[in-house]
Amino acid sequence: MKAVLCKEFGPPESLVLEEVDEPVAGAQQVVVDVKACAVNFPDVLIIQNLYQFKPPLPFSPGAEIAGVVSAVGPGVDAVSIGDRVFASTGWGGLAEKLAVGADSLVPIPDGIEFGPASSFLYAYGTSHYALKDRARLQPGESLVVLGAAGGVGLAAVELGALMGAKVIAAASSDDKLELCREYGAAETINYATEDLKTRVRELTGGAGADVVYDPVGGSYSEPALRATAWEGRFLVIGFAAGDIPAIPLNLTLLKGCEIVGVFWGSFVMRDPEHHRRNVEELVGWWRDGKLRPHVSSTYPLDRAAEAIRELADRKAKGKVVVTVGDAG
Ligand SMILES: NC(=O)c1ccc[n+]([C@@H]2O[C@H](COP(=O)([O-])OP(=O)(O)OC[C@H]3O[C@@H](n4cnc5c(N)ncnc54)[C@H](OP(=O)(O)O)[C@@H]3O)[C@@H](O)[C@H]2O)c1
Repeated sequence: MKAVLCKEFGPPESLVLEEVDEPVAGAQQVVVDVKACAVNFPDVLIIQNLYQFKPPLPFSPGAEIAGVVSAVGPGVDAVSIGDRVFASTGWGGLAEKLAVGADSLVPIPDGIEFGPASSFLYAYGTSHYALKDRARLQPGESLVVLGAAGGVGLAAVELGALMGAKVIAAASSDDKLELCREYGAAETINYATEDLKTRVRELTGGAGADVVYDPVGGSYSEPALRATAWEGRFLVIGFAAGDIPAIPLNLTLLKGCEIVGVFWGSFVMRDPEHHRRNVEELVGWWRDGKLRPHVSSTYPLDRAAEAIRELADRKAKGKVVVTVGDAG
């Protein structure tokens, strides 16, 4: 089979497409014929050895897939050959086939194509866990989302609005912010041209934001924390801007606020039952038409590096998907 391989750490352009042995389904595993693999910012990091998960070389990046089960290993009874499924896999998705633990598979709802299915779990799973379980977001609260048109950001905008929050989307361009409005943002801040702290305070009547969702880091975190409300919750999601900010702790004292770490991948491993309930809720909303995964561009497998490059260059909106074989 064909697989995109990271054989040495480097930029997306150092990935190669090669023939490799097909995987075999071990105990409690299935083999999935991959039809689509969504890319995420962690793909930018993992191929440079900058991510918290460090698979041994060579490996295929690609953390979430959708496809069709083509083989079933010993001890698997809830999944059958031919089932349409999606899963979060950490890496390995940019290949024609992948062996996956059967318990990590989610059936694709009827009528949903492979592309959107591959792009669902990571973004919505992270943002749902962050807003519901970590921030305890309440209806009527104000929610500021940084990097709001990115993969996890746009999911946070859509979920925040669905949960009844007043969503303030912050991003670096007006066309990104336009997309955020389509996904439920009540207000927007272009932080390339406007002062983030001042605008958040203005848009919250001086009170500050009840919840801040920060997947960007860098120079954006501190002004956003300074615009957090009394007893607000500041969610640390990631550092797409590159730098991990050092925060003056006195700000948390003065605001009586919480800085809350969010590590969805670890949560999934530590509390699989809670994760399963969260996915059920998300898939229910999706089936009811309340969630609309936004895939802004797709690439074939032999151009997977360009998909990851879009994220590295800050160009992606919503999700970028690599299609594999004949999938759409
Ligand atoms: N904690 C968790 O469990 C968890 C789970 C999933 C992802 N994450 C993290 O969340 C972050 C976002 O992931 P994603 O897949 O949503 O990425 P993405 O789609 O590429 O979105 C990242 C956003 O960050 C902003 N950004 C600011 N400076 C940037 C730069 N120098 N390069 C690239 N983007 C920059 C961009 O928005 P603007 O141009 O509008 O600023 C971009 O839309 C990553 O750090 C990722 O590791 C964390």
